[in-house]
Amino acid sequence: MAELSLRNVVKRYGALEIIHGANLEVKDGEFVVFVGPSGCGKSTLLRMIAGLEDISGGEIDIGGKVVNDVEPADRGIAMVFQSYALYPHMTVAENLSFGLRMNGNPKEDTEKRVRHAAGILQINELMQRRPKQLSGGQRQRVAIGRAIVREPKVFLFDEPLSNLDAELRVQMRVEISRLHKQLGTTMIYVTHDQTEAMTLADKIVVLRAGNIEQVGAPLDLYDDPANQFVAGFVGSPKMNFLKAIVTGRDAAGLTIALAADRTVRLTLPLTAALSDGTDVTLGVRPEHFGDSGKGDADMTVSVDVAEHLGNTSYIYATLGGEQLIIERPESRTTGNRDSLAVSLSAKRTFLFDSAGQRLR
Ligand SMILES: Nc1ncnc2c1ncn2[C@@H]1O[C@H](COP(=O)(O)OP(=O)(O)OP(=O)(O)O)[C@@H](O)[C@H]1O
Ligand SMILES: [Mg+2]
Repeated sequence: MAELSLRNVVKRYGALEIIHGANLEVKDGEFVVFVGPSGCGKSTLLRMIAGLEDISGGEIDIGGKVVNDVEPADRGIAMVFQSYALYPHMTVAENLSFGLRMNGNPKEDTEKRVRHAAGILQINELMQRRPKQLSGGQRQRVAIGRAIVREPKVFLFDEPLSNLDAELRVQMRVEISRLHKQLGTTMIYVTHDQTEAMTLADKIVVLRAGNIEQVGAPLDLYDDPANQFVAGFVGSPKMNFLKAIVTGRDAAGLTIALAADRTVRLTLPLTAALSDGTDVTLGVRPEHFGDSGKGDADMTVSVDVAEHLGNTSYIYATLGGEQLIIERPESRTTGNRDSLAVSLSAKRTFLFDSAGQRLR
């Protein structure tokens, strides 16, 4: 087990800088998820921690020791990739023990570790099969088993579930959580799936274009995003962003009007100094619209499509040309309508400036 820190870590390919000075502290035993859109640098950061990529600047520290010049095999890490890369001609048991056998680990200890990993992953009955006789989920379990037998200080996962179908992903996600609980080992997990990030992480690191945008516990990112990017990335369906204009300020706060319907006005308890007429963006999560008349401002939207999911429904709507998604508790009495009246509550909104920074 080990803590890990990144200090001002930079990655360049020639003149192109793709990680711009990453700083991060990971506590011993913590489950940290790197999340962000394709190409933002998640795998690169993980591969630098693993030692599979050189770092162009800064320091990586694992368990209190700078590992910049330490070989991957000597860093005490084990990595699981999206592609399982099992040896096709070997049985599951042989795949699990291969690395240890190559390192000359004593036979008895190797067998003990393989049995232990097989037990944790519940693959005891599969030990004599070859990879082609396994399902995708079983193969991924073997790949994880290969990491477990190494008894690493830190596990690194790079989108390990993205080759699996939706149902299996959910199942494996729970298993990885359970594995973390059982082993208590530090884990760093890369995904572009915000649900995986929210459900697995003790701490989420949101990356964008080679920068760490925000680090925090899942619900802290949900409740208190630092900027519009994080606000839009965390939560599903995504937060709505409505154009708005500052119309005044009084003791109660800042008053704004929606650009799409200026009769919709809200006073937000913010101290940001903005002059009247400033363009801003109001963020409202789909689940935070209330019943008409029960909030601080009412608005009526045109309904395009209503998706009924049984427990909840998603209303795809427009307001003066702006599209939005509204989540409502399922109701069997109202049926489909062309318009919907809902309310906004000031304390369940976020305000962003034109550069996407959060206004407070
Ligand atoms: N060898 C390389 N030479 C030049 N640029 C590279 C190289 N490898 C990666 N990159 C660039 O670095 C950036 C980050 O890539 P990386 O693979 O870390 O993204 P990612 O966040 O893991 O994306 P994905 O979700 O698609 O896996 C991308 O813009 C990519 O094109
Ligand atoms: Mg990647």
